[in-house]
Order: sequence, then C-alpha cells, then structure tokens
Amino acid sequence: MTPFFEQPRSFAFGPFVLNPEQQMLVEDEAPVTLGGRAFDILTALVERPGVVISKNELIERAWPNLVVEEANLKVNIAALRRALGEKAGSLQYIATVIGRGYRFVAPVRSSQPTPSSRKSRPFSGQSNLPPALAGIVGRAQDIEQIHKGLETDRMLSIVGAGGMGKTTVAVAVAEGFAARVSDGAWFVDLASLDDPAGVPGAIAKALGLETPPGTVFADLLDHLRSRDMLLVLDNCEHLIEAAATCAAEILAEAPGVRILTTSREPLRINGERVYRLAPLDAPPLEGRLQTDALLAFPATQLFIARAMARNRMFHLQDGDAPVVAEICQRLDGVALAIELAANRASAFGVHELRSLLDGRFRLTGGLRSWPERHQTLTATFDWSYNLLSADERIVLRRLSVFPGTFSLDAACVVARTECDLAKTIDDLANLVDKSLVTAEPAGNAVTYRLADTTRAYAQQKLAESDEADQVRQRYVHHLAADDRRYEGYAVQAL
Ligand SMILES: Nc1ncnc2c1ncn2[C@@H]1O[C@H](COP(=O)(O)OP(=O)(O)OP(=O)(O)O)[C@@H](O)[C@H]1O
Ligand SMILES: [Mg+2]
Repeated sequence: MTPFFEQPRSFAFGPFVLNPEQQMLVEDEAPVTLGGRAFDILTALVERPGVVISKNELIERAWPNLVVEEANLKVNIAALRRALGEKAGSLQYIATVIGRGYRFVAPVRSSQPTPSSRKSRPFSGQSNLPPALAGIVGRAQDIEQIHKGLETDRMLSIVGAGGMGKTTVAVAVAEGFAARVSDGAWFVDLASLDDPAGVPGAIAKALGLETPPGTVFADLLDHLRSRDMLLVLDNCEHLIEAAATCAAEILAEAPGVRILTTSREPLRINGERVYRLAPLDAPPLEGRLQTDALLAFPATQLFIARAMARNRMFHLQDGDAPVVAEICQRLDGVALAIELAANRASAFGVHELRSLLDGRFRLTGGLRSWPERHQTLTATFDWSYNLLSADERIVLRRLSVFPGTFSLDAACVVARTECDLAKTIDDLANLVDKSLVTAEPAGNAVTYRLADTTRAYAQQKLAESDEADQVRQRYVHHLAADDRRYEGYAVQAL
C-alpha cells in the first residue's frame, strides 16, 4: 500500500474531488471536462479556501511568465463556475472580491499531508495533534498573537464562552508551534475526563507513557523534565483546580515545557497569560449590505460555508444578506451557535430562521461527530451553568432582567443574594471570569453585559425559578430610583 505521505493530494468540496497531480476533477465519480488553465486556477483557489487570491497570482499560476489580459482570467473563472454548476448570482463556490481577486467559499476537505491538514500522528512520533480544522474562518490574528505569546510566556490560556472556537484556535496554534519545539506539540483532551484526579494520567496517556498507577505524576514529571515541547490541555474548566495544580507543577519542574490551555475560565496560576477569544466579527446591521460583503466577515462567512456544506443547493437571494448578518449578530458571533443555525438554513430559509431565533434554545442539529455539549445551544450553556456555585447561578439568572449594559451598582441592587454584598460582587467577578458576563471599560468605570444568547438562557432559568416576579420588581424599583436620581441631577443643574 502507498504510505499516506506518498499519496497524491486531493481536495474534496461538495460532490467534487480535485486531484491536481493527475489533472482530474470528478463529480460524484464522473470526470468533469476542464481546460488546463481553468484547472490551475481552481487548484490555486482550493489550496487556500476562504483566502482572497489576487488576480495577479491567479494569472501567474495559469500563465506562468506570460503577460495576459485580465479578461482571460474572467473567461476561465466563468468556465469554472459553469463546470461546477453555479447559478448566476449564487455564492456556491467562487466569490468575486471586487478589485482584489477571487475566493473559494465552499468548505474543502484536503488530503494533502501539509501542516494545516495533517492527520493524527502516532504516539511514537512528534505529536498527537488532532487534524486542524480545514476551512477555519478568520482567527489569523488570534493565532499569530497566541503563537507570539507562547514564545515569550511559557503558559497561555485561551479563555472564552462555550463554542467560541477555543479548541479550534488552540489546535491551529499548536500545528504551527510544533516545528519550534524539538519534542513536538501534544494534545490532551480533558473534556471527556470526569475525575480531577485523572489529569496527570490523561497527560501521560496522551504522551504514550506507560506508568504504574501509584507513580503517575512523578513519572510524568520525570519524563517532562528534559523535554522541549508544547502541551495543549484542552477544556480545563470542569477540572479547573486539578488542571491548575498540574500545570503549575509542570511549569516549575520542566523548564522546557510550554502549556497552552483552553478553558471557559482562567486557571489563575503564576505565569499564566490569559488570551480572551473574542466573537467572530459580523457585518454591522446598518446600510445596504450586498451578498459579497458577507464574505468579508468571518461570522457570516462561517454561516454560508456551513449552510452550503449541509445542502449544496443552498444559495443566497438578493436581500438575504442583511438577514444573515442579523442572525450572526444575534448569535453573538459564537462559532458553534452560527454552525447550529446554519445547519437549519436550508430547512427554513434565512428569513424564517431569523424569526425562529427567539426560541434559540431549541437550536439543535449538531453533527453526530460533535461532542454531546455541542449538540444544542442549551447543552453548551448547561455545561457552564452546571459548573457554577449555587450563588453564581442565582446572580446570573437575576442579571438576565437587564436588556443591555448595566453598572456594578445596578447589578448589586438587582442581583444581590441573601449573602452580604461583597459576596455578590465576588460572584459577579466569577461570572466574568467564566465568560458568562462581559465586562467592558466605559470611561473610569466598567459596564457589564450578558450576550444575547446567554441572556436568553439565563431568562429561561429565571422563569423556571420561583423568584421571577420578585426580581423583575427589584429591576423596576431600580429603574425608578435611577429616574429619581436623574431628576435630582436635572434640578441641581437648573
Ligand atoms: N474560526 C472558525 N472557523 C470555522 N469553524 C469554527 C471556527 N471556530 C469554531 N468553529 C467551529 O465551531 C464549533 C465550536 O468550536 P470549538 O470546539 O473550537 O469551541 P470551544 O470554544 O472550544 O467550545 P467549548 O467551550 O465547548 O470547548 C466547532 O464545530 C468548530 O468546528
Ligand atoms: Mg473546546
């Protein structure tokens, strides 16, 4: 059998498979006729899906060392679109990025053994990283900054809300970082581990170490002491204490080991650099948005890519662009939420989907291969909610009465628990740490906010509790008190 690394590379998208070395494109196993130039252009586009390839680069690729008119490129792009069965105005495979070039917008599964599409390597090799996601949208800057952060600090935590894309980014960073450390990058999946005492064992197992049960941690440290490697501890939040203790010990004992963690809250240990992963950018809602403009924003680009992966006949009509932008905004730019919505796009159409978002906790439709906590948006929030203390849960659901931003004072009035005020402030700080409440600087103060999806989830929890009316009353009193204070200022100002 041909070893994996000697197999010809191929790119699969929709019903097509492109094999550049054999100059072959097949659709559902039937060969598609394509000119040589169009073939080269298509290859250049699918090699880097989602990236704008300039007209010059495409011309150079198809007509090396020749001076040709841009019109030739246009003709070949039109031929390609025809061969791929694209309808006029639809955005199935090749998007024109006006004034810049072209971009391949469909998800591509690549079988080339390049760094960005490597399969899992055996334990005896230099890494056990899962394959990086093909067609990752946006995040180039995050990946670069985290990579740089790991060069200067030995421990970095990617922190963010559930489904934001932390694991996706961590794997992409580790792929790039593996070449920089002589003992490679190693991935430890903690999400599936329930027992905190099992953290050292999970790391040892990922490294392929066989250790007798009594001495796992000592053996692990012995193994790591002389290594130059990157350890990725993925999904630490439910074992946060154990992961923190273990990471601190490794940092102290193994000077050549760097640790990259993903977690919904920081580990809070010495030397930890925290990188908060922001939502994917979505287009602003104002203005007349064209379909092409959706591709300039990662959130909407992800929506389109996933909707097309689910149903290759999916395409956007004129007037759909603002609706898709609104869906992505209302889902707070959270990758998982956008994927779940996109999976339903063909079934409902984007307009109906937008109205269904009000019942967003029924947003289901995760793929079978996804973990349990990614099957529905509720499951993602349940995972975080179940890790909260009883008081943190109370504060979170009470905060759901605020429709927008709120101050610390307001939070204390409305969400104060039966404990003392300092405890409520502490609980609020914990909710910020755990990526359930956002804190934004506003002048000298800080304002707080629940993302739309978090708020809807917390509102549901409030409705299920026996204190919904009481909390709403507190909120109304707070508004009235605020008005009176405002009137007082107004009188003073006269
Ligand atoms: N930049 C991206 N481009 C394309 N898909 C993405 C991107 N980021 C995330 N996704 C997809 O969104 C889903 C959630 O991503 P991921 O598992 O990385 O989130 P997470 O923040 O690690 O979630 P959790 O807190 O539950 O572990 C996955 O299906 C992933 O493939
Ligand atoms: Mg994760």
